[in-house]
Amino acid sequence: MSPAEKITALTKIPNHVAVIMDGNGRWAKSRGLPRMLGHRAGTENLRKIIRACVEFGIHYLTIYAFSTENWGRPTEEVQGLMLILEDVIDKELNELHEEGVQLRHIGRLENLKPALREKVLHAIELTRNNNRLVLCVAFNYGGRDEIVCAIRRIIEDGIRPEAINDEVVASYLFTAGVPDPDLIIRTSGEMRVSNFLIWQGAYSEWYVTPTYWPDFDKDELFKALQSYDQRERRFGRLSTSDCAGDAEPHAG
Ligand code: FPP
Repeated sequence: MSPAEKITALTKIPNHVAVIMDGNGRWAKSRGLPRMLGHRAGTENLRKIIRACVEFGIHYLTIYAFSTENWGRPTEEVQGLMLILEDVIDKELNELHEEGVQLRHIGRLENLKPALREKVLHAIELTRNNNRLVLCVAFNYGGRDEIVCAIRRIIEDGIRPEAINDEVVASYLFTAGVPDPDLIIRTSGEMRVSNFLIWQGAYSEWYVTPTYWPDFDKDELFKALQSYDQRERRFGRLSTSDCAGDAEPHAG
């Protein structure tokens, strides 16, 4: 199937896809390579998946690149992942900008080295008016940390308890203004949320594949989109066919 045929074969495309890019370490180990080469291969793959998302007409892509828990990894790996972020900005930013990609960051920037922080802020500023694909990079991100930050700022802003609702909380999250993910993909077969978008993913569809992230190519992405295409999203309501009869309501 050609890329155009693939797209027309789908009845719905998720507006926002989020990815837990897992399995870099095992990919490297299975080849007798150091873990960092797995992360480097994962970064190469990310370039291809960004382009594939643009081709498939996905508007938002969120990637889990470094969690608040990843600080607990060996220093060499932590520094290696920081270096990857720096390299991606140094080497890919202009091309991403030309392709109409808007870069956003979710998480905390304050623990990063000032030079890296500045590069991230520059990338966000440079690309802020692009609208082909919004790429949200979750770096030093944790879902619980995000909610704690939101609660602190809600209290600092003196919001009255009775004024707090879903919309208010969402507007204080790092993802303010970004629609909730429709589809969350996790590679390498692990069946865990791992503190990723725990508020925003309340009604996301999940797709888990045993494929390690560096091997998750465009065809694999298409399989995930095909799976999503077959899902009926009910958001806790009844399906259309159930509404026709007198079925008991259930959590959906
Ligand atoms: C999880 O695999 C992956 C990560 C913690 C890092 C993901 C980072 C990249 C793919 C590089 C792109 C990064 C940026 C900043 C653009 P793992 O190491 O836990 O794999 P394992 O479970 O097999 O050990």
